[in-house]
Amino acid sequence: MIEKEYYKNTAGRKAQGILQKFIKNNPQIKTAIDLGCGSGNETRFLAKNSISVTAVDASDVSKFLYEDLTEDEKKRISFIQERFSNVELPKADLIISFYALPFVRKELLPKIIKKIYYSLNEDGYLICNFFGKKDSWYGFEKHTFLEKDEIEDLLKEFKILKMNEIERDGETGTHEKKHWHIYWIIAKKC
Ligand SMILES: C[S@@+](CC[C@H](N)C(=O)[O-])C[C@H]1O[C@@H](n2cnc3c(N)ncnc32)[C@H](O)[C@@H]1O
Repeated sequence: MIEKEYYKNTAGRKAQGILQKFIKNNPQIKTAIDLGCGSGNETRFLAKNSISVTAVDASDVSKFLYEDLTEDEKKRISFIQERFSNVELPKADLIISFYALPFVRKELLPKIIKKIYYSLNEDGYLICNFFGKKDSWYGFEKHTFLEKDEIEDLLKEFKILKMNEIERDGETGTHEKKHWHIYWIIAKKC
């Protein structure tokens, strides 16, 4: 369970650049799911861009999701408090999951990826990230750290359009120093 402080610290940051660029280049996207929405920075960005979003999180983050939105933008967001393994997902053109799938145990991931695949519309997209093995959290028992070929295998039903591997020294959402090793992925249902 993530501490409340994490949500307060992360609320209000800009949506991830990879998502901003993708939405600019893909105006056909009308429906999305944010899996592990946290404080909802990406959920709000999508709602502000006229996209209907289902935001999913195991924690009750509802009070963060609607900040600074107009009434019309608020109406575009539905929140489901549920774990990924149990949630029933609606159909969507886009599913995003940032800094959330690495917190799922490895053995549970194939089923969740399958769920993502079936809830995407034809030609739908998945944008997500995973931790690599040079991450300073490597070894944490409940987290998942993957090699490039393991990600390719996990996403074998998809066409991977982009896989950017990034390493950087930085901080966590609770201001602890950390080495990040992240794979950023854009994949298409095919
Ligand atoms: C590190 S936060 C990232 C939040 C947000 N996506 C972001 O990038 O700021 C991970 C979020 O995923 C949620 N989460 C992790 N594992 C989950 C699971 N198995 N089912 C549902 N939510 C989960 C956590 O409750 C948390 O809010």
